[in-house]
Amino acid sequence: MASPIKVCVTGAAGQIGYSLVYMIGSGAVFGADTPVSLHLLDIPPMMPVLNGVCMEIADCALPCVREVVATDDPSVAFKDIDAAFLVGAMPRKEGMERKDLLAANVKIFKVQGQALDQHAKKSVRVLVVGNPANTNALICSQYAPSIPKENFSAMTRLDQNRAQAQIAARLSVPVSDVKNCIIWGNHSGTQFPDVRHATVAGKSVYDAVNDEAWIRGDFITLVQKRGGAVIAARKLSSAMSAAKAACDHMASWWQGTPEGSYVSMGVFSDGSYGTASGVMFSFPVTIKDGKWSIVQGLPIDDFSKGKLEVTGKELCEERDDALAVCSAAQ
Ligand code: NAI
Repeated sequence: MASPIKVCVTGAAGQIGYSLVYMIGSGAVFGADTPVSLHLLDIPPMMPVLNGVCMEIADCALPCVREVVATDDPSVAFKDIDAAFLVGAMPRKEGMERKDLLAANVKIFKVQGQALDQHAKKSVRVLVVGNPANTNALICSQYAPSIPKENFSAMTRLDQNRAQAQIAARLSVPVSDVKNCIIWGNHSGTQFPDVRHATVAGKSVYDAVNDEAWIRGDFITLVQKRGGAVIAARKLSSAMSAAKAACDHMASWWQGTPEGSYVSMGVFSDGSYGTASGVMFSFPVTIKDGKWSIVQGLPIDDFSKGKLEVTGKELCEERDDALAVCSAAQ
């Protein structure tokens, strides 16, 4: 076996963390033959709970897990890490405005960016899950200037998986037959789930569904509002599916995308497709040798253009609010 990959999970005592550490430890992300050293970070009041999680990791007797470091100190958690799943964030409380949540969380990601800058490997790959994920990833990268911008990404894979599952259900086909569903923009209600270029068993999803009104209407709303529907049913937010999506995202980043397939990731926008640049925008990407590239040249109709503009505008507003919070806190 090779030497262990050092993997940090923040918010490891939380809901998503509980599923995520098991999936990473089982070899689902870095490979069943790759040992991992798990660095688990949470806040001081959660240390007893995190200790319980560590007990369960031990009891899983996972062959890939070589070491577990549980800490409330980012400098310990981020020391020489190769990969980071930044899940830990303040949850939205009742009566809290989106702006208040953004203010609380971007401060966390500013501090964690600074800590990554000082302690992580320069090659670390950082996936931000904690919301608002796109803007948190932007802030985190901004405060980690010694780490390349390309090493930061935000999770929209859950939305992609949801879109893929809805298409599979609609067509009564296995979910693995559906490929290249795209999530554009922000991981929020303005995201644009797009199946214009998706395929089912090699054929166009658009033609197979043959119902443009559904694709442009109920399908989009269903994916955009799926998180709320899970909360309504479970009385808790998506956790198992979010952990699975985080693993899918990192596995694609680590192992690459198969020929002819792409995945959606929030990455630094270079203005491709006329989108706002300088924000973390979710694009279709292909990945080779650990490097992502935005898929170019997909035809974008006026309907899609309008959707890209709305979600890009929201990301610019979030970025401006986040930067104002960070500079006020200096
Ligand atoms: P949770 O509340 O169960 O767990 C969050 C954990 O983070 C808690 O243990 C908390 O103590 C910890 N935490 C808070 N501040 C921290 C800090 N500064 N450093 C380290 N740990 C810290 O929440 P859950 O359900 O696990 O969700 C986590 C985040 O993921 C939330 O922001 C949620 O909105 C987001 N999320 C994102 C999704 C996406 O698709 N991008 C999907 C689902 C959730």
